[in-house]
Amino acid sequence: MRLVLLGAPGSGKGTQAARLKEHLQVPHISTGDLLRAEVAAGSPLGLQAKQVMARGDLVSDDILLGMLRDRFSRDDTRAGFILDGYPRNLAQAAALDKLLAELGQAFDAAVQLTVDNEQIIERLAGRAKAEGRADDTPESVRHRLNVYDQQTAPVIDFYRQHGQLTVVDGVGSLDEVFTRILEAIQPGHEVG
Ligand code: AP5
Repeated sequence: MRLVLLGAPGSGKGTQAARLKEHLQVPHISTGDLLRAEVAAGSPLGLQAKQVMARGDLVSDDILLGMLRDRFSRDDTRAGFILDGYPRNLAQAAALDKLLAELGQAFDAAVQLTVDNEQIIERLAGRAKAEGRADDTPESVRHRLNVYDQQTAPVIDFYRQHGQLTVVDGVGSLDEVFTRILEAIQPGHEVG
């Protein structure tokens, strides 16, 4: 199974991807996690990305594509993947199509998790207290939501227009949302 998980910051992409990874036995590729690992390692790429991420802006398309290309060169992605956090603008959507075509692959579904902004702000405020992620400050969250509306929402429309979008209600318990995703991507299959 090859899945692209879409949704605003805090919509639950990472949380559900971790569960889907276990269920589907395919790797979870989170561009946010890949970038945070670079920041933690203090690599040149991480140093470049650190401030951009803390502000809530998008890191450059070139950096992202290089990272993704690298990750997809690993054998474990041949059986499938759950891509979380990419694409985030139309140029990245085109780059993903091209990269997958080069690899002789295509994704099976783009799943959008929908959650209203009020709940997102509440969730990320909770995570700010629990984990202190640098971009979970109220200012950065507001900016991330604007960036999402301006740059990532067109990707959702693009996949919708191409009949590739599956919309899943992201509000509810973790189990409820997980079940909804599975029902959407594997209709008729037992969740068990
Ligand atoms: P990234 O790490 O992708 O952050 P994000 O999209 O802002 O997503 P989050 O991790 O905040 O939210 P999520 O949807 O994964 O929700 P989660 O499961 O964590 O990107 C970070 C930054 O990296 C970007 O801003 C950008 O700078 C850069 N970047 C990354 N990809 C890029 C790209 N392609 N191009 C350019 N730049 C890029 O859940 C959030 C919280 O809610 C958690 O506390 C969780 O426990 C809780 N929660 C989850 N589900 C539920 C539920 N059902 N009910 C209640 N609480 C829930």
